[in-house]
Amino acid sequence: MLQVRKRAFKGTTEYWESRYAKGGTSGAGSYGRQAEWKAETVNDWVAELGVTSVVDFGCGDGNQLSLAKYPRYLGLDPSATAVRMCVERFRDDKTKSFLQYTPDTLADPAGWLRGDLALSMEVIFHLIEDEVFEDYMTRLFDSAERYVVICSNDTDDDEQVPHERHRDFTRWVERERPQWVLERRLDPPADLDVMSSFFLYKRNA
Ligand SMILES: C[S@@+](CC[C@H](N)C(=O)[O-])C[C@H]1O[C@@H](n2cnc3c(N)ncnc32)[C@H](O)[C@@H]1O
Repeated sequence: MLQVRKRAFKGTTEYWESRYAKGGTSGAGSYGRQAEWKAETVNDWVAELGVTSVVDFGCGDGNQLSLAKYPRYLGLDPSATAVRMCVERFRDDKTKSFLQYTPDTLADPAGWLRGDLALSMEVIFHLIEDEVFEDYMTRLFDSAERYVVICSNDTDDDEQVPHERHRDFTRWVERERPQWVLERRLDPPADLDVMSSFFLYKRNA
């Protein structure tokens, strides 16, 4: 049954644009207690580490972002609808910029898209195609000056809904970006129904 539904899946970018265009949201993880835990974690690390700017790959509908305390922020997402929602919601916030991109319409070898910290929150297990995953991980790490923060799970379990594919991304980092060191891992509180943990990577000097 899952195979049939997977065959009907149109692709990661198309899935999210269609979901937002129909009035859908970024999901349960971006609202309520789950969103509060995610925001507290990143806000605390940003303050503690003296992070000066954050570039967020997969900013979503902006609800999670409404809890963020970052000095300077750039949010990117392939969904034009999600980016428009953020532009509208944060219209008067001079610290936040937004940009829509798709994996095949953005090349940045000259390094314009940079942040002191590059952020990925509950995006990695939604990247279905291998080439999209590769492209995403490469962009994420190549956009970070000092830190990368990932909120995801790191298992290779294949029994999910069509728009989820869990990946052991920590192995990708070890293999492809050995200059990045996993400094911290934070699992969710026991009373919170979240499958993601936080991973803080630091560039080795
Ligand atoms: C579950 S939502 C999470 C949104 C936000 N990070 C949060 O925590 O609320 C996943 C987001 O990833 C975005 N996404 C999908 N493919 C992406 C890609 N290749 N690069 C960046 N974002 C992507 C989707 O459009 C969607 O907004």
